[in-house]
Amino acid sequence: MNARGISPGVYWVGAVDWDRRLFDALIPLPDGTSYNAYLIQGSEKTALLDSVDPRMQDVLLDRLDGMPSIDYVVAHHAEPDHSGAIPAVLERYPAAKVLTNPRCKGMLMDTLLIPEDRFITVEDGETVSLGDKTLKFVYMPWVHWPETMVSYLQEDRILFTCDFFGSHIATTDLYVTDEPRVYEAAKRYYAEIMMPFRKVIEKNLAKLADYDIAMIAPSHGPIYNQPAFILDAYREWVTADPKNIVVLPYISMWGSTKAMVDHLVDALIERGVAVELFNLAVTDVGKLAMALVDAATIVVGTPTVLTGAHPGVVYAAYLANALRPKLRFASIVGSYGWGGKAVEQIASMIPNLKVEVLAPVLCQGYPREADFEALDCLADAIAERHRENHLT
Ligand code: FEO
Repeated sequence: MNARGISPGVYWVGAVDWDRRLFDALIPLPDGTSYNAYLIQGSEKTALLDSVDPRMQDVLLDRLDGMPSIDYVVAHHAEPDHSGAIPAVLERYPAAKVLTNPRCKGMLMDTLLIPEDRFITVEDGETVSLGDKTLKFVYMPWVHWPETMVSYLQEDRILFTCDFFGSHIATTDLYVTDEPRVYEAAKRYYAEIMMPFRKVIEKNLAKLADYDIAMIAPSHGPIYNQPAFILDAYREWVTADPKNIVVLPYISMWGSTKAMVDHLVDALIERGVAVELFNLAVTDVGKLAMALVDAATIVVGTPTVLTGAHPGVVYAAYLANALRPKLRFASIVGSYGWGGKAVEQIASMIPNLKVEVLAPVLCQGYPREADFEALDCLADAIAERHRENHLT
């Protein structure tokens, strides 16, 4: 068995996907990812915790070579990057049962066609003994699907969290060794996947206060043997006030919107406001999502095309609305040739953002003196709002 021990009788048996560059045909994975499965050998029973992406199921099965029996396959989450190889494991181990919650059971029956008699369901807070090791199951809904749960190995004080606290990194490191790198990847992961469920994540974080945790073992990226590192980061991302930052995604077709954006960036800097600028024609949307974790204000820059905002800006607005960041203020700047409804269109697309909309600045053609003055007023308004709200 080509497994890596993390505690006596506890092994990492996952797969590292060095080549993957996109998840859900949506999320960029600049550093690849891993699908972490774990094997726990108790004195009486053996449990496999999650599986791997079905494209890499042979890697998991190879790691399990020489393992004569598996009693339980724990499914913390039904998404196929963790559950997709469970049918192959069940085929190799005909006596194995899938341990999961009722909601996840239904999803696995629907998506993987696993027969009902292969399941044992567990309730929230239930424990299952493996002999000298005990797994406790804790429901953690909406991390980021409704059926998600974690398990706590009581004797070893290891929390197995599946997607919760994960990071998309392909690495040979079993544990976090490069904290800045993992912080960045974990923040990207939080921004893209967890941020829309921030309120529920906050409640789930509170549940963990009852547990003495020596190690957090997620299903993507390295294991946290210093759990405070990721727990503190999540508390900051989820609950801290937004910062004195403007996120400015934009597109410019002929330079007018770019001239406005450049002026606004300088005006904000002069007023002590930091800016994260994203030219949507070339940007990585994951970077934009990360910037939204901390920003207090979003200003969208768009030319008018086909009577509305540029489709690339529409996409960014849709994404920002879906991610539900902590933004407090929003505005729009841009130019038009002869008319259009860009402002109304973008404003109607962000109902999830509980923001105060600051006066937009739209100009006809290339910006003139009055337009630059309007941009200065917008910068004044943003800086004032940030000051009034003590955003630093
Ligand atoms: Fe890593 Fe929601 O799957």
